[in-house]
Amino acid sequence: MSAYQIVDHTSAVVVVGAGGSGLRAPMGAAEHGLKTACVTKVFPTRSHTVAAQGGIAASLGNMGPDHWTWHMYDTVKGSDWLGDQDAIEYMCREAPAAVIELEHMGLPFSRTAEGKIYQRAFGGMTQDMGQGPPAQRTCAAADRTGHAMLHTLYSQSLRHDADFFVEYFALDLIMENGACRGVVALCLDDGSIHRFRSQAVVIATGGYGRVYFSCTGAHTQTGDGNAMVLRAGLPLQDMEFVQFHPTGVYGVGVLITEGARGEGGYLTNSEGERFMERYAPHAKDLASRDVVSRAEAMEIREGRGVGEHKDHIFLHLDHLDPKILHERLPGITETAKTFAGVDLTREPVPVVPTVHYNMGGIPTNYHGEVVTLKDGNPDSVVPGLFAVGEAACVSVHGANRLGSNSLIDLVVFGRAAGIRLGEVVKKGALPEALPKDAGDLALARLDRFRHAEGGSPTAEIRLDMQRTMQSDCAVFRTDRTLAEGVTKIDKVFKRMADVRVADRSLIWNSDLVETLELDNLLAQAVVTMHCADNRKESRGAHMQEDYPERDDKNWMKHTVAWFDGWGGQWPKGGVKIDYRPVHDFTLTDDIQTIPPKKRVY
Ligand code: FUM
Repeated sequence: MSAYQIVDHTSAVVVVGAGGSGLRAPMGAAEHGLKTACVTKVFPTRSHTVAAQGGIAASLGNMGPDHWTWHMYDTVKGSDWLGDQDAIEYMCREAPAAVIELEHMGLPFSRTAEGKIYQRAFGGMTQDMGQGPPAQRTCAAADRTGHAMLHTLYSQSLRHDADFFVEYFALDLIMENGACRGVVALCLDDGSIHRFRSQAVVIATGGYGRVYFSCTGAHTQTGDGNAMVLRAGLPLQDMEFVQFHPTGVYGVGVLITEGARGEGGYLTNSEGERFMERYAPHAKDLASRDVVSRAEAMEIREGRGVGEHKDHIFLHLDHLDPKILHERLPGITETAKTFAGVDLTREPVPVVPTVHYNMGGIPTNYHGEVVTLKDGNPDSVVPGLFAVGEAACVSVHGANRLGSNSLIDLVVFGRAAGIRLGEVVKKGALPEALPKDAGDLALARLDRFRHAEGGSPTAEIRLDMQRTMQSDCAVFRTDRTLAEGVTKIDKVFKRMADVRVADRSLIWNSDLVETLELDNLLAQAVVTMHCADNRKESRGAHMQEDYPERDDKNWMKHTVAWFDGWGGQWPKGGVKIDYRPVHDFTLTDDIQTIPPKKRVY
């Protein structure tokens, strides 16, 4: 440790990440009188939650009949029966109170004429356990809901006793005898190293969309927490389930909210046909995202894509009253103008399925506690370690997330983790002293990249990874593409042994920091590709054309995967894959589980 300037900190709880869940969790911890530190790579209001557009799901029933059990039904069906029903029950039951809490915190929701929170339709959200018409369940602040939510949460979090460490890049967890004891971080402002000693660590670092070439996520979405968990010898879950959003702006990847279709927008192919009527006769353009993205990909594949290369689709909003665009969709009106040169009141915007969300992540129970398969127990808790938000796989989204269920996941499980922390963390007690070598592994890894003088520039390896994932782990997958993908991604991974780090300064935006992020991304890319290759069925976002049907008998189970090769050093056993059962039970006796059936929209 001595080659670096090291600063030690002590608190009851450390939260890594300050997006929606990363801000909600410390509030809960601080409310329980726990001294909390929040370590974040970017300023809290720049976290990727800020980019969420369409809204947050909760069965408030402001626009028509609704009930939390209907929300639960839609979420289980949306997950293609891979979601854990106890966690889904918890989320949907708690959702209305969580939204009202946000309203009371000051979130500036759009309003109905009577002054209630405005709710719009979103894909896969229905009334009456899938039997009724679309439910207007998504609570919206125009099309800038994530922005409004993040600013609200950040301003509220300042009222609590939480210390923010802004532009601190978490390098690794400090583990001892299977328990998490803290975290090591690099201050991106001055290059100093910080050891945070705590009774509990909450990982809230978001998804890892940047393993792909085209994604709606920020460049900071490198899944740093997921990678730290792998390096700690713990597994990730369901990594093969990657969501493609049907409406990323063609060629740019920027999001056009599903709320656009919720307000009446529709998709057409080169023949001007509203093709979703063929793929989802009832829900049409408001089918779930996996269904709409696949339909778009089919249209393009069969030669009915639009544009010179027939490789994208049109989204129409030009038939809507411009007042609706102005009041409810101002953000995407601006986005379409800026990124596609399109005036939405007059012409359609070109869109294409674009990577948007990772259903997989760090396995947790509904309290946010990280679980592993220790001694064969699929629900064994890792002491001192929590995960929330997109980094976590709780699993409420299963094989496919419904739009607007991510913002509600953030606040419901951020709060749940806060409650659990209040129960398990000893108030006023100091965390035990750290072992002498605490953080040495993290610093050895840092050193390795500081002296990396190989022949492959970081940016080149990153592009190689992103192109491989984009072509071989896409909307449609086959045995052949996945086998090729595995060979290719393993090869890309091995290039890290030969990485050349040009600018090795320990500060923000340096080549060194991007290399640490790439090392994190690559491990997740390898795990994702191997897990996808292993799953011989189609479920939710994992469409395997050689096994086109869902196979509940053999595959209704969560994938768990371990990986212990780093810096291009391939692990002896490769990626180790196992499976754990889906929670097909509810938390309370007053409701029944939702039995699997064919998923049609
Ligand atoms: O389309 C959207 O507004 C995205 C929302 C979500 O991913 O939940």
